Amino acid sequence: MTKLGVNIDHSATLRQARYRGLEAESGIIVEPNIIDVALAAERGGADSITAHLREDRRHMQDSDIFELRKKIATKLNLEMACNPEILDIALKIKPDYVCLVPENRMEITTEGGLDAASELEKISYYVGKLTEVGTQCSVFIDPDASQIEAAAAAGAQMVELHTGAYANAWGNPDKIKAELSRISAAATRAAELGLTVNSGHGINYANVSRLLEAANFNELNIGHTIISRSLLCGIENAVREMKELLVKYGCF
Ligand code: PXP
Repeated sequence: MTKLGVNIDHSATLRQARYRGLEAESGIIVEPNIIDVALAAERGGADSITAHLREDRRHMQDSDIFELRKKIATKLNLEMACNPEILDIALKIKPDYVCLVPENRMEITTEGGLDAASELEKISYYVGKLTEVGTQCSVFIDPDASQIEAAAAAGAQMVELHTGAYANAWGNPDKIKAELSRISAAATRAAELGLTVNSGHGINYANVSRLLEAANFNELNIGHTIISRSLLCGIENAVREMKELLVKYGCF
Protein backbone atom coordinates (compact mmCIF):
# COMPACT_ATOMS: atom_id res chain seq x y z
CA MET A 1 0.00 0.00 0.00
CA THR A 2 1.23 3.51 -0.73
CA LYS A 3 2.45 5.07 2.50
CA LEU A 4 1.51 8.52 3.74
CA GLY A 5 4.21 10.97 4.78
CA VAL A 6 2.71 13.97 6.54
CA ASN A 7 4.58 17.25 6.15
CA ILE A 8 3.93 19.31 9.28
CA ASP A 9 5.95 22.42 8.31
CA HIS A 10 2.87 24.59 8.28
CA SER A 11 2.06 23.88 11.90
CA ALA A 12 5.43 25.52 12.59
CA THR A 13 4.54 28.34 10.16
CA LEU A 14 1.54 29.08 12.37
CA ARG A 15 3.62 29.00 15.53
CA GLN A 16 6.27 31.32 14.06
CA ALA A 17 3.57 33.80 12.98
CA ARG A 18 3.06 34.57 16.67
CA TYR A 19 6.13 33.33 18.53
CA ARG A 20 9.15 33.84 16.27
CA GLY A 21 12.18 34.27 18.52
CA LEU A 22 10.27 33.25 21.63
CA GLU A 23 10.16 29.48 21.03
CA ALA A 24 12.62 28.80 23.83
CA GLU A 25 11.38 31.41 26.37
CA SER A 26 10.49 29.69 29.59
CA GLY A 27 6.99 30.17 30.93
CA ILE A 28 5.44 31.16 27.62
CA ILE A 29 2.85 28.83 26.14
CA VAL A 30 3.98 28.48 22.57
CA GLU A 31 1.37 27.03 20.25
CA PRO A 32 0.75 24.95 18.36
CA ASN A 33 3.13 22.41 19.84
CA ILE A 34 4.51 20.75 16.76
CA ILE A 35 5.41 17.54 18.58
CA ASP A 36 1.74 17.18 19.55
CA VAL A 37 0.84 17.78 15.89
CA ALA A 38 3.25 15.03 14.80
CA LEU A 39 1.91 12.58 17.38
CA ALA A 40 -1.70 13.31 16.35
CA ALA A 41 -0.71 12.76 12.70
CA GLU A 42 0.72 9.39 13.69
CA ARG A 43 -2.52 8.47 15.49
CA GLY A 44 -4.36 9.35 12.28
CA GLY A 45 -2.22 6.89 10.32
CA ALA A 46 0.86 8.81 9.12
CA ASP A 47 3.65 6.44 8.14
CA SER A 48 6.27 9.14 8.41
CA ILE A 49 6.62 12.73 9.52
CA THR A 50 8.28 15.20 7.16
CA ALA A 51 9.86 18.46 8.25
CA HIS A 52 11.93 20.90 6.19
CA LEU A 53 14.73 22.68 8.02
CA ARG A 54 15.21 25.70 5.80
CA GLU A 55 18.27 27.93 5.78
CA ASP A 56 16.12 30.88 6.90
CA ARG A 57 14.38 28.78 9.61
CA ARG A 58 11.08 30.27 8.55
CA HIS A 59 9.09 27.42 10.07
CA MET A 60 10.96 24.48 11.61
CA GLN A 61 13.72 25.29 14.10
CA ASP A 62 16.75 23.10 14.82
CA SER A 63 15.29 22.09 18.20
CA ASP A 64 12.07 20.89 16.47
CA ILE A 65 14.01 18.41 14.38
CA PHE A 66 15.96 17.10 17.39
CA GLU A 67 12.69 16.73 19.34
CA LEU A 68 10.88 15.03 16.47
CA ARG A 69 13.75 12.56 16.19
CA LYS A 70 13.29 11.64 19.85
CA LYS A 71 9.52 11.67 20.13
CA ILE A 72 7.93 10.24 16.99
CA ALA A 73 7.33 6.52 16.63
CA THR A 74 7.27 6.42 12.83
CA LYS A 75 9.99 7.54 10.42
CA LEU A 76 11.50 11.00 10.25
CA ASN A 77 11.93 12.43 6.78
CA LEU A 78 14.07 15.57 6.83
CA GLU A 79 13.85 17.86 3.83
CA MET A 80 16.93 19.98 3.31
CA ALA A 81 18.85 21.92 0.71
CA CYS A 82 22.45 21.04 -0.12
CA ASN A 83 23.79 23.37 2.56
CA PRO A 84 26.81 22.53 4.75
CA GLU A 85 25.28 23.89 7.97
CA ILE A 86 22.10 21.83 7.54
CA LEU A 87 24.19 18.80 6.58
CA ASP A 88 26.05 19.01 9.91
CA ILE A 89 22.71 19.01 11.75
CA ALA A 90 21.40 16.10 9.67
CA LEU A 91 24.54 14.07 10.36
CA LYS A 92 23.92 14.54 14.10
CA ILE A 93 20.22 13.72 13.93
CA LYS A 94 20.55 10.83 11.46
CA PRO A 95 16.97 10.96 10.17
CA ASP A 96 15.53 7.81 8.64
CA TYR A 97 15.29 9.66 5.32
CA VAL A 98 16.53 12.88 3.86
CA CYS A 99 14.96 14.45 0.82
CA LEU A 100 17.32 16.88 -0.90
CA VAL A 101 15.39 19.85 -2.23
CA PRO A 102 16.21 23.14 -3.91
CA GLU A 103 15.77 26.25 -1.82
CA ASN A 104 15.17 29.76 -2.93
CA ARG A 105 14.78 32.44 -0.28
CA MET A 106 12.02 34.25 -2.16
CA GLU A 107 9.78 31.23 -2.73
CA ILE A 108 6.71 30.64 -0.57
CA THR A 109 7.23 26.89 -0.67
CA THR A 110 9.59 24.58 -2.61
CA GLU A 111 8.84 25.47 -6.21
CA GLY A 112 10.77 23.42 -8.76
CA GLY A 113 12.65 20.15 -8.47
CA LEU A 114 16.42 19.98 -7.97
CA ASP A 115 18.43 20.10 -11.16
CA ALA A 116 20.15 16.81 -10.33
CA ALA A 117 21.64 16.56 -13.80
CA SER A 118 23.64 19.78 -13.48
CA GLU A 119 24.40 19.44 -9.76
CA LEU A 120 25.49 15.83 -9.86
CA GLU A 121 28.78 16.30 -8.03
CA LYS A 122 27.25 18.22 -5.14
CA ILE A 123 24.31 15.86 -4.77
CA SER A 124 26.61 12.83 -4.86
CA TYR A 125 28.62 14.35 -1.98
CA TYR A 126 25.52 14.93 0.18
CA VAL A 127 24.08 11.50 -0.62
CA GLY A 128 27.43 9.89 0.23
CA LYS A 129 27.74 11.67 3.60
CA LEU A 130 24.17 10.89 4.64
CA THR A 131 24.30 7.29 3.47
CA GLU A 132 27.42 6.79 5.63
CA VAL A 133 25.36 7.50 8.78
CA GLY A 134 22.55 5.17 7.69
CA THR A 135 20.14 7.79 6.30
CA GLN A 136 18.42 6.90 3.05
CA CYS A 137 18.47 9.69 0.50
CA SER A 138 15.83 10.93 -1.83
CA VAL A 139 16.12 13.69 -4.41
CA PHE A 140 13.16 15.94 -5.18
CA ILE A 141 13.09 16.23 -8.97
CA ASP A 142 10.77 16.99 -11.82
CA PRO A 143 9.36 13.86 -13.45
CA ASP A 144 11.91 13.75 -16.28
CA ALA A 145 14.08 10.82 -17.33
CA SER A 146 17.30 12.86 -17.32
CA GLN A 147 16.72 13.96 -13.71
CA ILE A 148 15.90 10.42 -12.61
CA GLU A 149 19.02 9.07 -14.25
CA ALA A 150 21.08 11.78 -12.53
CA ALA A 151 19.54 10.94 -9.12
CA ALA A 152 20.48 7.29 -9.64
CA ALA A 153 23.99 8.30 -10.75
CA ALA A 154 24.34 10.36 -7.56
CA GLY A 155 23.74 7.20 -5.54
CA ALA A 156 20.31 8.18 -4.17
CA GLN A 157 18.14 5.31 -3.04
CA MET A 158 14.89 7.17 -3.71
CA VAL A 159 13.37 9.94 -5.75
CA GLU A 160 10.45 12.18 -4.93
CA LEU A 161 8.69 13.21 -8.11
CA HIS A 162 7.49 16.81 -8.08
CA THR A 163 3.74 16.77 -8.67
CA GLY A 164 3.27 20.56 -8.65
CA ALA A 165 2.67 20.80 -12.41
CA TYR A 166 -0.01 18.11 -12.13
CA ALA A 167 -1.69 19.95 -9.24
CA ASN A 168 -1.53 23.25 -11.13
CA ALA A 169 -3.15 21.65 -14.19
CA TRP A 170 -6.38 21.13 -12.24
CA GLY A 171 -9.34 22.32 -14.33
CA ASN A 172 -7.52 21.61 -17.60
CA PRO A 173 -8.24 17.97 -18.59
CA ASP A 174 -5.66 17.81 -21.41
CA LYS A 175 -2.91 19.16 -19.21
CA ILE A 176 -3.84 16.81 -16.37
CA LYS A 177 -3.61 13.86 -18.76
CA ALA A 178 -0.23 15.03 -20.08
CA GLU A 179 1.16 15.54 -16.57
CA LEU A 180 -0.08 12.15 -15.39
CA SER A 181 1.54 10.40 -18.32
CA ARG A 182 4.81 12.28 -17.62
CA ILE A 183 4.65 11.16 -13.97
CA SER A 184 3.79 7.61 -14.97
CA ALA A 185 6.74 7.37 -17.43
CA ALA A 186 9.08 8.87 -14.82
CA ALA A 187 7.94 6.42 -12.15
CA THR A 188 8.52 3.52 -14.54
CA ARG A 189 12.03 4.75 -15.41
CA ALA A 190 12.89 5.25 -11.73
CA ALA A 191 11.69 1.75 -10.85
CA GLU A 192 13.77 0.30 -13.73
CA LEU A 193 16.82 1.94 -12.16
CA GLY A 194 16.00 0.35 -8.80
CA LEU A 195 14.92 3.60 -7.16
CA THR A 196 12.12 3.80 -4.62
CA VAL A 197 9.52 6.18 -6.02
CA ASN A 198 7.77 8.77 -3.87
CA SER A 199 5.94 11.89 -4.91
CA GLY A 200 4.83 15.16 -3.42
CA HIS A 201 3.83 18.79 -3.73
CA GLY A 202 0.34 20.14 -4.27
CA ILE A 203 -1.35 16.79 -3.65
CA ASN A 204 -4.79 17.25 -2.10
CA TYR A 205 -7.98 15.35 -1.25
CA ALA A 206 -9.38 15.98 -4.76
CA ASN A 207 -6.37 15.15 -6.93
CA VAL A 208 -4.80 12.26 -5.03
CA SER A 209 -6.91 9.44 -6.53
CA ARG A 210 -5.94 10.13 -10.14
CA LEU A 211 -2.29 10.39 -9.18
CA LEU A 212 -2.42 7.03 -7.40
CA GLU A 213 -4.11 5.45 -10.42
CA ALA A 214 -1.37 6.74 -12.73
CA ALA A 215 1.66 5.10 -11.11
CA ASN A 216 2.89 2.99 -8.22
CA PHE A 217 4.34 5.03 -5.39
CA ASN A 218 6.03 3.90 -2.23
CA GLU A 219 4.97 7.08 -0.40
CA LEU A 220 3.24 10.39 -0.97
CA ASN A 221 4.39 13.41 1.01
CA ILE A 222 1.49 15.70 1.74
CA GLY A 223 1.40 18.85 3.82
CA HIS A 224 -0.65 21.93 3.04
CA THR A 225 -3.99 20.28 2.32
CA ILE A 226 -3.83 18.18 5.52
CA ILE A 227 -2.89 21.11 7.75
CA SER A 228 -5.62 23.21 6.09
CA ARG A 229 -8.25 20.53 6.61
CA SER A 230 -7.12 20.04 10.20
CA LEU A 231 -8.40 23.55 11.01
CA LEU A 232 -11.88 22.20 10.39
CA CYS A 233 -11.68 18.66 11.72
CA GLY A 234 -8.44 18.23 13.67
CA ILE A 235 -5.12 16.83 12.52
CA GLU A 236 -5.88 13.23 13.43
CA ASN A 237 -9.09 13.17 11.35
CA ALA A 238 -7.51 15.10 8.47
CA VAL A 239 -4.70 12.54 8.26
CA ARG A 240 -7.15 9.64 8.62
CA GLU A 241 -9.25 10.93 5.70
CA MET A 242 -6.18 11.15 3.47
CA LYS A 243 -4.98 7.74 4.59
CA GLU A 244 -8.35 6.25 3.62
CA LEU A 245 -7.89 7.62 0.09
CA LEU A 246 -4.42 6.07 -0.12
CA VAL A 247 -5.81 2.73 1.04
CA LYS A 248 -8.59 2.96 -1.53
CA TYR A 249 -6.58 4.07 -4.55
CA GLY A 250 -2.96 3.17 -3.80
CA CYS A 251 -1.75 -0.11 -5.18
CA PHE A 252 1.96 -0.34 -4.43
N1 PXP B 1 7.56 17.29 -0.88
C1 PXP B 1 8.48 18.28 -0.91
C2 PXP B 1 9.86 17.94 -1.33
C3 PXP B 1 8.14 19.59 -0.51
O1 PXP B 1 9.09 20.55 -0.55
C4 PXP B 1 6.84 19.86 -0.10
C5 PXP B 1 6.46 21.25 0.28
O2 PXP B 1 7.14 21.70 1.37
C6 PXP B 1 5.92 18.80 -0.05
C7 PXP B 1 6.30 17.54 -0.46
C8 PXP B 1 4.53 19.01 0.45
O3 PXP B 1 3.83 19.82 -0.43
P1 PXP B 1 2.40 20.33 -0.05
O4 PXP B 1 2.51 21.16 1.16
O5 PXP B 1 1.97 21.08 -1.26
O6 PXP B 1 1.56 19.09 0.21
